[in-house]
Amino acid sequence: MNLKGKNVLITGGSIGIGLELAKMFLADEANVLVCARNQSALDKAKSENPALQIAQCDVTVREQVENLLQTTKELFGGIDILINNAAVFRRFNILEDYPLEKQLEEIDINLKGPVQVTNIFLKELLQSKEPVIVNLTSGLAYVPMTDAQIYSATKAAINSWTQSLRYQLRKTKVRVVLLSPPVVDTRMNANNPGVEGMKLISPKRFAELSLRGLKKNKDEILVSPINSLKLISRFAPRMAFKALNK
Ligand SMILES: NC(=O)c1ccc[n+]([C@@H]2O[C@H](COP(=O)([O-])OP(=O)(O)OC[C@H]3O[C@@H](n4cnc5c(N)ncnc54)[C@H](OP(=O)(O)O)[C@@H]3O)[C@@H](O)[C@H]2O)c1
Repeated sequence: MNLKGKNVLITGGSIGIGLELAKMFLADEANVLVCARNQSALDKAKSENPALQIAQCDVTVREQVENLLQTTKELFGGIDILINNAAVFRRFNILEDYPLEKQLEEIDINLKGPVQVTNIFLKELLQSKEPVIVNLTSGLAYVPMTDAQIYSATKAAINSWTQSLRYQLRKTKVRVVLLSPPVVDTRMNANNPGVEGMKLISPKRFAELSLRGLKKNKDEILVSPINSLKLISRFAPRMAFKALNK
C-alpha cells in the first residue's frame, strides 16, 4: 500500500513506538494525528515535528474518543489508518497489596481502549478506499510473564479480538493487522528489571520494520524474535513459560 496522502491516527503517539511510527508516516507524506493524555509530551512531539497533528485524549474515556473522531474529521476529512498503540505495562505481585484499581485501569487502557476507539472510528474507516486497523500486541500474548499478569492477559485478548475483527470485516475493505514489537527501548521498559541484559531495539528501527510490513500488506507483522516465540509457545509451551518466568 502507498502511504502518501493517507490519514493516520495513532493512539499513544506522543512518545516511544507511536511517535516513531508517526515520524515514518510523515516521511512518507501521510497526514498524522497522535493522541495521548499528557499535553506537555504532545507539545514536545509537535515542536520537534511541526507537521504532526496532536490531540489530548484518554482512550478509556468515551466522550474524549468521540471528540477525537470529530477532530480527525475536521483536520483530515476522514481516516484511512487507525493504529491502536496506547498501552501501559505494569509488573506486580498479587500477594503484595497491589491496588485492584490499578489492575482494572490497565485492562481499561490496554483492552477497552482499542475496542472503544475502533468502534467509534469504524463508520468513518468504512468510508476509506483502503482502510487499515493496526493493533499493537506483544510476545507476552503468546507466553504470559506472570508478574506482568494483566498486561499479558490484555495482549492475549487483543490477539483474539483481532482475529475475530478481521473475520467479521472480511467482506469489507478494512484490513486488520496485528503488529508485535520485540523488546523496544522506550519508556515502557525504562524501569523494567525484566529486560536487564537484553538487547533492546530502537523504536526507530521497529517503526521501519513495521512500515515495511504494512506496505507489503501483511496481516501479521511479528518482528523477530516474536515470530519464533509464537512457534515455541505452540510446540513447547511449558518450556517457553519456564524460560520467561525463571
Ligand atoms: N516497548 C516494548 O518493548 C513493547 C513490546 C511489546 C509491545 N509493545 C507495545 O507497543 C505499544 C507502544 O509501547 P511503547 O513502548 O511505545 O510505550 P510508551 O513509550 O510507554 O508509550 C505509551 C504511549 O501511550 C500513551 N498512553 C498511555 N495510556 C493512554 C491512555 N489511556 N490514553 C491515551 N494514550 C495513552 C502514552 O502517553 P500518556 O501517558 O501521556 O497518555 C504514550 O504516548 C504498546 O501497545 C505496547 O504494549 C511495546
